[in-house]
Amino acid sequence: MQKPPVSFDSIDTPAARRLAAIKKNMLIDKLYQSPSQTRVRLVRVQSDAGETRPQKTNVVKTTVVKPAKANWTDKVAVVTGGSSGLGRAIASHFASQGARVVCLARDENKLAATVEELNQSGDAVSAVVADVTQDASVAAAVAEVQRSHGQIDLWVNNVGRSLRIALTQAQVSDYQQLMEINFLSAVRCSLAALPELDRTSGHLVNIGSLAAKTGWPWVAPYATSKHALAAYHHQLRLEGPKSVHYLFVCPGPIRRADAGVRYSAEASKLPTQATRPGAGVKLKGIPPETIAAQIRVGCEKRKADIVIPNKARLAFALAQLSPRLGDYLLKKFSGSKH
Ligand SMILES: NC(=O)c1ccc[n+]([C@@H]2O[C@H](COP(=O)([O-])OP(=O)(O)OC[C@H]3O[C@@H](n4cnc5c(N)ncnc54)[C@H](OP(=O)(O)O)[C@@H]3O)[C@@H](O)[C@H]2O)c1
Repeated sequence: MQKPPVSFDSIDTPAARRLAAIKKNMLIDKLYQSPSQTRVRLVRVQSDAGETRPQKTNVVKTTVVKPAKANWTDKVAVVTGGSSGLGRAIASHFASQGARVVCLARDENKLAATVEELNQSGDAVSAVVADVTQDASVAAAVAEVQRSHGQIDLWVNNVGRSLRIALTQAQVSDYQQLMEINFLSAVRCSLAALPELDRTSGHLVNIGSLAAKTGWPWVAPYATSKHALAAYHHQLRLEGPKSVHYLFVCPGPIRRADAGVRYSAEASKLPTQATRPGAGVKLKGIPPETIAAQIRVGCEKRKADIVIPNKARLAFALAQLSPRLGDYLLKKFSGSKH
């Protein structure tokens, strides 16, 4: 009896083809497909009846086929704020995976120094000078990357900054400044990059913070602007071009050389807790390289968001159910008397 041909009419991924090659007298029927997985069932084919369509009664196995691992070779990644801190680590990580990385920032000399350092290990990193608070500058940067690299497969909205200030001291202008740098600049860059990311079915990554998920003492304008970014990111996931993958990244305090002294001047009149990394949250500084690697995996698995450390999710979920319990947990994590 001749074996029937394997049909790929409903699903055709390398993993599905491998599966069908092993089970030669099976048809593969796609049940469900999401960005991160495809659920398929293997259906035994009654070849003598000349059957070509899967029948429910003949289902042998239901299984999940994971998408093939992303290959970053020659993909083009733009990292805003790529000349220092987390942005630099993201640039370095994607370059080490074979991507052509473009670091975007304002200071040309700092950018040139970063690019030179990163390229010493043989990476393909270049720079574009731009200011993410200016429409024309961002538009010119996108055009420049398209001209020089031909495509954009990953855009990371990483530029952002914090401010340590008491709630009653924070003025409208403080909120305006942080909304501009942490929120509006991400909107501006997303609008400029989305048509190209739609064309390449690329990834749009927004760097939030734990302060995008909860309030925190001494960082009111920062937390407010990151919450706005979180809302915008959710809208992107709901309404943005479907071919684009959107990843929201919410890290706790990031390890860096100037941690603990970075906010000393502006927080000189605040409790010492305010000068500490994460404004005193009882969490270890996270190596930026760890976050960069998690961002890559998050893109490959087309995750919706990443919270680092992941255990913080539980506190956020409890705070949604009971705001008072949430406040109690915050105090436990911050040691705050407020
Ligand atoms: N550090 C932390 O502990 C921490 C924790 C959670 C989340 N985050 C988030 O992680 C992201 C990176 O933070 P970071 O502390 O690593 O940053 P950072 O070291 O202060 O670096 C900021 C980068 O953004 C660039 N930049 C600033 N303003 C710009 C503008 N208007 N246009 C273009 N580029 C601009 C800077 O270069 P130029 O000045 O030359 O432009 C620099 O490359 C931020 O979104 C931050 O909110 C940080």
